[in-house]
Amino acid sequence: PVLVVDFGAQYAQLIARRVREAGVYSELVPHTITAAEVAEKQPLGIVLSGGPSSVYEAGAPSFDDAIFELGIPTFGICYGFQVMARALGGEVGHTGDREYGATDATVLGGGGAILGGQPEEQNVWMSHGDAVQRAPEGFDVLASTSVTPVAAFGSAERRMYGVQWHPEVKHTDHGQRILENFLHRVAGIDPDWNAGNVIAEQVAAIREQVGSGRVICGLSGGVDSAVAAAIVHEAVGDQLVCVFVDHGLLRQDERRQVEEDYVASTGVRLVTVDARERFLGALAGVTDPETKRKIIGREFIRTFEQTQAELVAESAEAGDPIRFLVQGTLYPDVVESGGGSGTANIKSHHNVGGLPEDLNFELVEPLRTLFKDEVRAIGRELGLPEVIVARQPFPGPGLGIRIIGEVTEDRLTTLRAADAIAREELTAAGLDAEIWQCPVVLLADVRSVGVQGDGRTYGHPVVLRPVSSEDAMTADWTRVPYDVLARISNRITNQVPEVNRVVLDVTSKPPGTIEWE
Ligand code: XMP
Repeated sequence: PVLVVDFGAQYAQLIARRVREAGVYSELVPHTITAAEVAEKQPLGIVLSGGPSSVYEAGAPSFDDAIFELGIPTFGICYGFQVMARALGGEVGHTGDREYGATDATVLGGGGAILGGQPEEQNVWMSHGDAVQRAPEGFDVLASTSVTPVAAFGSAERRMYGVQWHPEVKHTDHGQRILENFLHRVAGIDPDWNAGNVIAEQVAAIREQVGSGRVICGLSGGVDSAVAAAIVHEAVGDQLVCVFVDHGLLRQDERRQVEEDYVASTGVRLVTVDARERFLGALAGVTDPETKRKIIGREFIRTFEQTQAELVAESAEAGDPIRFLVQGTLYPDVVESGGGSGTANIKSHHNVGGLPEDLNFELVEPLRTLFKDEVRAIGRELGLPEVIVARQPFPGPGLGIRIIGEVTEDRLTTLRAADAIAREELTAAGLDAEIWQCPVVLLADVRSVGVQGDGRTYGHPVVLRPVSSEDAMTADWTRVPYDVLARISNRITNQVPEVNRVVLDVTSKPPGTIEWE
């Protein structure tokens, strides 16, 4: 593999993903990894990620400099670039100037293997305080900016390169090309990693993990759990049973769609559990978002436990418990639940931070390092139909985190009706591919005065939250045409009696998140 060393930046996984986009398998490792551990992994290359703004900052993450003596091609980015400079005998200085955001870089000395053949002037994305003042002995300076004399350097002999900017972000010109040049030209790695390889690798890992054990998979109807189940099915066939929990927080028609689409296309055994009373009972009186999420996470697990007991009781090999639970957890779920190294808990995704502590299952999570579009590619490779792989995301906690206030049966009925109208109109307008997802949120504790017919109304607002995104880590609000918004608003206020106002959320992420809770 290529090792991506994580110095605690949000960007590390993005780098790992860009490496995979270049057709090269990558693994994220912590910055505390030792030279011996690196040597054991026999990596074909190492990429050092960004991190804090300076190697001199108090508590700046450490790195075992002996790793630079292993003869492995290495590429340093931002903080990783400075770590490299300092370790190899260059000089990192306090410049007093910060460079932040879009910056003009000038390619020097032909650009070497990483920048060679590219335009001399490039717009790159920077985020740093201190800067490399002098390149290490034997290294050529390959770019500079008005503030940073050494913005890129490299040594063909040592097969080590680095840039001060962030080639992994889309705002950087030629960023992906720079990474590819390092991987293919410098490290000489063939681009042969693809969805097929991920499947093969995960199938092998799952077989190893579960052996002849039986496995259940929580299927939500979304892409992630569908693809996770399909990989596990590929690996262990009939040892897998899928469980679809109707927790009463589903959208209109969702249960029927899951039952039809999924079973028809995979032939997997599917058990549907009606757990509506259990979930709504547990959520009664609860308004705090994190508490809701934790209750929902816990009740999912309790439902799976009960189902597994019933499945064991009915099977010939009674007494052989089902120890494994498949979840379609993706990398962004892990990060936002505070699971990356040094990342904050933004919200507890039901399948990560929302899990109960006394979990009796061993988790099988074949998608844990991947992003949604990678998962979709794998789903297509596995032959899942477009109705499943192209489906917009819908969170496991469902409408439970889209009712601001207590979740009740009546409020669910209201939200379900409004949501169905919004989805129908967006689909009719041909906007599904452009929109990542469009939560419809019921502000159940807010009321406003309206007028309908000749009478006064005192109803609730719903919020439309259409967003565009690549991976749900960041998002922008989608500019849905006014006439489509008008149709949605008219229909909802006419057809859903409890709702007398429709409002549009025009906040990007950050600072907003996609869901309201
Ligand atoms: P946020 O609200 O964090 O959402 O910007 C990012 C993406 O994750 C989905 N989401 C969840 N999915 N369980 C899930 O399966 C959860 O607990 C959960 N919370 C948010 C959300 O719909 C969006 O696609």
